[in-house]
Amino acid sequence: MSIVERTAHDPYPEFTAGLRRLTGIDLDQYKRPQMERRIRTWITARHGDDDLLAELRRLRADDEELDAFLDRMTINVSQLWRNPEQWERIGRDVLPDLRAAGPARPLRIWSAGCSYGAEAYTLAAHVLDAGPGVRAEIVGTDIDNRVVARARRGIFSDADARDAPRDALLRHFEQTADGTWAARPALRALVRFEQGDLLRVRPRREHHDLILCRNTVIYFTEEVRDALHERLVEALRPGGYLIVGATERVARAADLGLEPTHPFTYRKVG
Ligand SMILES: C[S@@+](CC[C@H](N)C(=O)[O-])C[C@H]1O[C@@H](n2cnc3c(N)ncnc32)[C@H](O)[C@@H]1O
Repeated sequence: MSIVERTAHDPYPEFTAGLRRLTGIDLDQYKRPQMERRIRTWITARHGDDDLLAELRRLRADDEELDAFLDRMTINVSQLWRNPEQWERIGRDVLPDLRAAGPARPLRIWSAGCSYGAEAYTLAAHVLDAGPGVRAEIVGTDIDNRVVARARRGIFSDADARDAPRDALLRHFEQTADGTWAARPALRALVRFEQGDLLRVRPRREHHDLILCRNTVIYFTEEVRDALHERLVEALRPGGYLIVGATERVARAADLGLEPTHPFTYRKVG
C-alpha cells in the first residue's frame, strides 16, 4: 500500500485497537514503523497481501492464527547465559555486593520480560553458586502466557544452552533422553513465573533488590521505555541493581538516582 493510500484511510489504529480488545496487548506503546513493518511483512508472507483489517478478522475467528501472530510479534528470543559477560559480572560483583550490603531476608529478584524463563533459571544458577549466604526469590513475568507456561516447565533446548559454561550447566540442569536440558529441583525451587504486562503493572515501591529488564524494551517508543525504566527504579530498594540488555541504556540515569557500576548495570544510590 502506498503512503497516499495509507493516509487516505489508515487502518493501523483500528487494527491496534481491535488487537487490544482481543488480547490486551497495546501495540500503540511500541515503535510504529518497526511494528507495522513486521506485521505487514508477516501477513503478506502468510496470506499474499497486507490487509490489516482482514487480518484482524482472522485473528478474531481463528485461535491458531492468533497464536502464530503472537509468536511473531512478541519476539521471545532468549537463551541460558545470554551475554555471558553480563553473567560474569552478576556472579562476581552484583550478587556478592547485594549479600554484603543487603537485607537478611532472601533477595527479591525480578526478571521483567522473562520470555520462556532462560534468564530466571540462569539467575537461579548464579544464586546457588554464590554460596549458602545468598538466598533469593526470583520471579519472572512476561506478557505472553504461552512463554510463561513454557518457563514453568523449565526445559531448554541444546541451542538454548550453547553459551552456558559446561560445568555450571551440568550442575544445574539434567540432560534428558531427547537431549533437552531440564532444570534440577534446587533451581526450580527458586523461581516462579507470572503473566503480566510491564506497561500496566504497578510494582511495589522499593520492593526489589535486583531487576533484570533485558532485550524487552527495544520495540517500545522512547517515552514508554523511559517511563518503564522510571517505574522499575521506583521498585528497587536503595542499593539495589537494575540491569538492562547489552544494547540498551537508561536515559537520564543520574536523574533517576542511578549510578552505573558496570556496562548496562546500574545501582540505585542510597
Ligand atoms: C527478547 S525477549 C527477552 C527475554 C530475556 N529477557 C532475555 O534477554 O533473554 C522479550 C520478551 O519481552 C516480552 N514482552 C514484550 N512486551 C512486553 C510487555 N509489555 N510486558 C511484559 N513482557 C513483554 C515478550 O513477550 C518477550 O518474551
